[in-house]
Amino acid sequence: MYKVRTAKSAGFCFGVKKAVDAVYREAEKAGEKVYTYGPIIHNDTVIRDLEDRGVEVIESTGDLKNSGTLVIRSHGVSRQIQETCLKSGMHIVDATCPYVKKIHRIVQKRCDVGDRVIIIGNEKHPEVAGIRGWGDSKTTAIESMEEFLELGIPKEEPLSIVAQTTFNHNKFKEIVDKIRDLGYDINCFNTICNATQERQTEAAEIASEVDVMIVIGDKNSSNTNKLVEICKKECADTVFIQTLEDLNPQDLVSVRSVGITAGASTPKHIIEEVQSNVRP
Ligand code: F3S
Repeated sequence: MYKVRTAKSAGFCFGVKKAVDAVYREAEKAGEKVYTYGPIIHNDTVIRDLEDRGVEVIESTGDLKNSGTLVIRSHGVSRQIQETCLKSGMHIVDATCPYVKKIHRIVQKRCDVGDRVIIIGNEKHPEVAGIRGWGDSKTTAIESMEEFLELGIPKEEPLSIVAQTTFNHNKFKEIVDKIRDLGYDINCFNTICNATQERQTEAAEIASEVDVMIVIGDKNSSNTNKLVEICKKECADTVFIQTLEDLNPQDLVSVRSVGITAGASTPKHIIEEVQSNVRP
């Protein structure tokens, strides 16, 4: 007989849940065809399930239709894409996470008052691309101090700094401190969302107390891989599964306690399925 502890923060954060729920809700309504602007989350099981319900993914503004419903995912989009979508004739359901929307507003406002906006985050990430699209031609994304220095910004230029919501807290602080130490005048907006940090802290805490730690998520999800890495540090017997099928019952033989967590794109029903089958 062993104990099972599931992380409260396992799975979807509030913003992703809101966006996924919006797609399912729209798909259930009879009539209009439903599209999402980019895949709603990085989880094959969910994407296939949505495909079965007739939901299609639109990859760029060139693929917009003149009817149907288009859901904008939690990452958000640039102002230009948003405007093009609104003009397309499609019914737009904007499921941009409110925390991301807030960054859009900050970026737009700071550009209006003449600041140069720096986004600390990965420029290739759709969320960052969207944020950048609410700024002006000088709005730039950087991930390191080297990248900042390469920009060669004059010290007199007022800067506003925002962060990608999933950026690492310590790394953000370190970069901001270094920029400030160089003598720049900065308006700093720490826009990091705590959902990721909370999920990681709770995973580490549970992993440190159990014999086997199960992490559920898509193999390609970077935040799930990060969770695995964190859990492995605390619990050598950490197993990474996509669904219940990947779980080897042998892993749970003669253990006293099992912990469960899941990445940000893992749906609740997959977590619950694992949880109920793991129960002794
Ligand atoms: Fe999720 Fe929104 Fe935070 S999408 S990670 S709650 S910024």
